[in-house]
Amino acid sequence: MKIAIIGHGVVGSGVAETLLQKREELKVKTGVDLEVKYVLDLLEFPGLAIPVIHDFSIIEQDPEVSLVVETMGGLSPAFEFASRSLRANKDYVTSNKELVAQKGAQLLKIAKEMGRNFLFEASVGGAIPVIRPIHQCLEANSFSEVSGILNGTTNFILERMIDDGAQFDDALALAQKLGYAEKDPSADIDGLDTCRKICILASLAYGKHVYPKDIHIEGIRDINLIDVQYAASWDSRVIKLIGKSKINPEGKLAMIVCPMIVRRGSLLSSVNGVNNAVLVRGDLVGDIVLYGRGAGKYPTASAVIADVIDCAVHRGSRREIYWEDSEEPAVTNYLDELTQMYFRISIREKEDIDTVRAEFGNIRVLTRKNAAWSEFAFVTEEQMPEREIIRKIARCGVLVDTMIRVESEI
Ligand code: HSE
Repeated sequence: MKIAIIGHGVVGSGVAETLLQKREELKVKTGVDLEVKYVLDLLEFPGLAIPVIHDFSIIEQDPEVSLVVETMGGLSPAFEFASRSLRANKDYVTSNKELVAQKGAQLLKIAKEMGRNFLFEASVGGAIPVIRPIHQCLEANSFSEVSGILNGTTNFILERMIDDGAQFDDALALAQKLGYAEKDPSADIDGLDTCRKICILASLAYGKHVYPKDIHIEGIRDINLIDVQYAASWDSRVIKLIGKSKINPEGKLAMIVCPMIVRRGSLLSSVNGVNNAVLVRGDLVGDIVLYGRGAGKYPTASAVIADVIDCAVHRGSRREIYWEDSEEPAVTNYLDELTQMYFRISIREKEDIDTVRAEFGNIRVLTRKNAAWSEFAFVTEEQMPEREIIRKIARCGVLVDTMIRVESEI
């Protein structure tokens, strides 16, 4: 089977190298000979044992190429390449999360019309098998929650703050030095990367396309070491950046991306370093956690090649991955969802604390060493709609330095 790879960056070169090196081994294992006929990139790669081209129409018009792999990222020209490849009767495998999160429903529709595959295991969780388990292995389940730690860079930064007492800026600089964080780290630290990934998982699990623009996103830029210390003072809890999707008590899909305080010992609390973990809650299976390397050249190449092999081995048949497009936002307003909130506020006089107690009723007061007398941290005890919490704290008339949601279900 002849393949073209679009993009020869970190992941694309990992796919090309692996397919070259393991060609014989994979042939024996799968019975299919996977030959990379072209690499398409803007740059030249002298010495690469695969012809490098710069014109997509060569791939499009080559009837020998039956599968296109795209690893370049971004929406344009990836969307055009994906639709043209599928319409040219080629399977399409991508690691491009932005493409799937924004255009997944449209591309799955084209793939269905053309009887071709559009596969994207590598778009979420890098090496971790997560798309296929949800779509295939757990297909008999109805899902009530799919949530996770989906960004390794931010997990690494938070861990440095929690375990080493590093300030956010220092932890970010270390992540950049180690090559985890980009020079412009905003997609990671502001939560957009997590949002794209949870949108893909939610679309798959609940059957309707969820667009990133409909999700409330908060990143970790404003997480302060002081808040990490307060969380630790509460039975060693930790702060994690979570992408959350769940069916609420009214049967509607509720989603959010934000830092959350999680219990030490909970399923997601022990995810360390740049690892990712996805918790899937199904009516038949209960909780399943998928854990592993969420990024990197070879881990991600592994997921891409799994899709390539799937297409090659089942050439002529289709993976029935599909979800509906949705005009209306597929999710509830996050302000209507029940939550518990951690607050760190600045008080001007002791009476402010009485006001807070009068508004919220039971609160859990948190303490830390060397706190200024004006610093007051507490957690609301009762679950209530976030809108209500915001109204109550506004009525207190205090300066809110930080608010972080408390996760109690995962
Ligand atoms: N930048 C992402 C992360 C990897 O740190 O997890 C690619 O999705």
